[in-house]
Amino acid sequence: MHVKDNTFLITGAASGLGAATAERLVAAGGRVVLCDLSGAVNAHAQRLGKTARAARGDVTSGDDIQAAVDVAVELSDGRGLAGVVHCAGVVSVAKLVDREGNPADLEAYNRTIQINLVGTFNVMRLAAAAMAQNPAGEDGERGVIINTASIAAMDGQVGQCAYSASKAGVVGMSLPAARELSRHGVRVMAIAPGVFETPMMSEIPDEAAQALAAAVPFPKRLGRADEYARLAEQIITNPMLNGEVIRLDGGIRMQ
Ligand SMILES: NC(=O)c1ccc[n+]([C@@H]2O[C@H](COP(=O)([O-])OP(=O)(O)OC[C@H]3O[C@@H](n4cnc5c(N)ncnc54)[C@H](O)[C@@H]3O)[C@@H](O)[C@H]2O)c1
Repeated sequence: MHVKDNTFLITGAASGLGAATAERLVAAGGRVVLCDLSGAVNAHAQRLGKTARAARGDVTSGDDIQAAVDVAVELSDGRGLAGVVHCAGVVSVAKLVDREGNPADLEAYNRTIQINLVGTFNVMRLAAAAMAQNPAGEDGERGVIINTASIAAMDGQVGQCAYSASKAGVVGMSLPAARELSRHGVRVMAIAPGVFETPMMSEIPDEAAQALAAAVPFPKRLGRADEYARLAEQIITNPMLNGEVIRLDGGIRMQ
């Protein structure tokens, strides 16, 4: 799948990994629809120029994501939605039992699962239905979906029951979704980032960030958003990547 002149939907595109991916795909000649809950998505789309559109919306809403897919199809000049890079997500930390002996809040758990896992399924189902209508390209390819998991899917830390479960769900959907969508010529991949320098991570105190960076075998630093975007671009353009989860983490294995 070429990036140039093709149209991509990017969720979580107002910030961090999604914002960087939108920038990279536009620089490579692609057209992008930036979807995010945050109004900042409008300014970012404007900055990127006339091949970018904003579609403000919530990834857990069928109507919002259908509207974003429709904007992408319109922007594509008849080629259809070629790809999705799904970056919208939230991080959460809560112990099962806190210091005072109180059980974790069930609503907070549900919220993380709803956004990170159900939101991913929602984006996949609506994007795949649109991609299935595309004319087939080389090898019969019609589209590519890139989801964002996390190394917390495999190496979850204390307090990450909700976050790790939501991301493990994203990992678990990759292969069955890739198998099912193969008959439509749509690939499904997931990226599992380690620790990246984005607004999501900016709440971590400096000391903790330094300790995390030191725990990365090489390079000894946090990941940069454009490094995620570069992998997303490679997945888009390399047709043999399918049904797999790629760790992008400098070799870190959380204890
Ligand atoms: N930064 C990291 O270290 C890291 C590591 C592993 C995985 N991830 C994952 O990467 C993805 C992107 O993270 P980031 O670091 O760029 O975070 P970020 O907070 O910078 O960006 C996330 C974006 O998602 C948007 N968003 C949240 N809920 C949404 C919803 N319901 N509908 C639409 N948009 C919504 C936010 O408004 C925000 O703009 C997330 O799924 C995150 O879990 C990040």
